[in-house]
Parts: sequence; C-alpha cells; structure tokens
Amino acid sequence: MSQQSKRRWPYPEVVAHRGGGTLAPENTIAGFREGVRHGYRAAECDVKLSADNVCFLLHDDTVDRTCNGKGLAAGMFMAELSRLDAGAWKGAAFAGEALPTLANVAAYCLAQGMSLNLEIKPCPRREEETGRLVAQEAAKLWAGAAVPPLLSSFEIDALRAAKAAEPALPRAFLCEEIPADWRAILEELDCVALHCDHKTLTEPLARAIKAAGYQLLCYTVNDAADARRLLDWGVDSLCTDRLDLLPAR
Ligand code: G3P
Ligand code: MG
Repeated sequence: MSQQSKRRWPYPEVVAHRGGGTLAPENTIAGFREGVRHGYRAAECDVKLSADNVCFLLHDDTVDRTCNGKGLAAGMFMAELSRLDAGAWKGAAFAGEALPTLANVAAYCLAQGMSLNLEIKPCPRREEETGRLVAQEAAKLWAGAAVPPLLSSFEIDALRAAKAAEPALPRAFLCEEIPADWRAILEELDCVALHCDHKTLTEPLARAIKAAGYQLLCYTVNDAADARRLLDWGVDSLCTDRLDLLPAR
C-alpha cells in the first residue's frame, strides 16, 4: 500500500464540480460563492498554465466556450486572460466575472474554509510543467493550511511531475474508465485516491479499490439515487453539478 493512502481523507462527501456545478459559470469565483451559499465545504476546479506560466482556472484548451474571446489558452498571457468575461455566457447576472488565478481561488477558499480538489488540466504538450508548477504554487498558497488541496489529473505525466515537485501534497489518479492496471498506477504515483466516472464503476471494483486502502471519488453524480448507491458501495466522495439536489454533508 502507498504511503499516502494511509493518511486520513479530510474531504467531504459532496464536492461541487467546477466550482459551483452548473448553477454558476464554471471555474469562477462566482461558482465557489454558489458552493458556499449551498453549504458546500469542498469544490473541484480545473487548473492550467497561461503562456507566462500563471496557474489559472479553465476547463477547455480554448477560451471560446466560456469566455467572450477566442483562441488557445496556452498562447495567451495572464494579463490578456484576465480581461476576458468568463461569466456572461451563463447569464447577465454573471457578466464581468473574471477567469481566476489559482492565487485568487486559494485566497477565497481558505477564507471560507472550503477544501479543494485541483484537477491539473494541462494544455496539450504542457503536461509535465503544468504538474510541477501547479504543485509548487499550491504548496506555497496552502502552506500551513489544515486541509491541503488534493491534486488530481487524467495526465499521468502531470501527476508524476507533481509528485516529484511536492511529494507531500495528496494526489489522485483521475480516469474515465478504471484501467486494469489501476493498482500499479496508484502505487507508482503514491496516490491517496482514485477518481473515476461513476458510470463506469461497478460494485466489485469499488470494493476492491477500498480494500486496497485507497479512497474513491466519483464524478459527475447528478442524481440522488446514484449518489445513494455509490455511497453504499463505499465511495468516499461525489463530485456533482447539482448543488441544489445533493445536500451539503
Ligand atoms: O475531476 C473530475 C471531473 O472534473 C473530470 O472531468 O471534464 O469535468 O474536468 P471534467
Ligand atoms: Mg475537472
């Protein structure tokens, strides 16, 4: 069993997906505010690097879907990204909402006592440096915090780099479908947890992962019956878009 997996799991049973789920523009401070309003004590968000290596929140490779601009995020400096409106696409009430830096998010969440799952979501071909820089920045921003941010990624190279840079920060291997060699991956990356798409999880697999000493988080659980079933299987945390449907706990 890995060293990290023996640690406690300080993350709540429900985690708001992309900040505030679908109730606010994703990966914005308005989203985190929505989480706080619903009593949520944890959120997941997607972190990548600007062209000048600032860690900031965005899900896609481009700004097109969620901002009033166009282009690849990897080619844009943070000053340029900061001028974009990342809220108006979700409704006039959110107009003027900015793309937050990781530092903005840390300040807000630490002040609110909200814990975070930082999904390292590198721009293409920036996997290693994104893993390293997000881990280093997170370690600085959360230094001395009661609950460290949980770093997860679909990208094994990003998690490897995060582990090399800041081995003490907890890590989770994120996958859509759990691969046959999950034990070897979790062991190599010294992860505390496995995060997977709830649609691909089976009860025997959930029980095997728990029996191996790892924590289990499922995304994106937007149905109360699914939530109950997964918790019955031993899943530790559920990442959801529906803060209005799954009560904070
Ligand atoms: O971290 C869980 C989930 O956020 C992964 O999928 O595409 O919403 O980032 P995605
Ligand atoms: Mg994500």
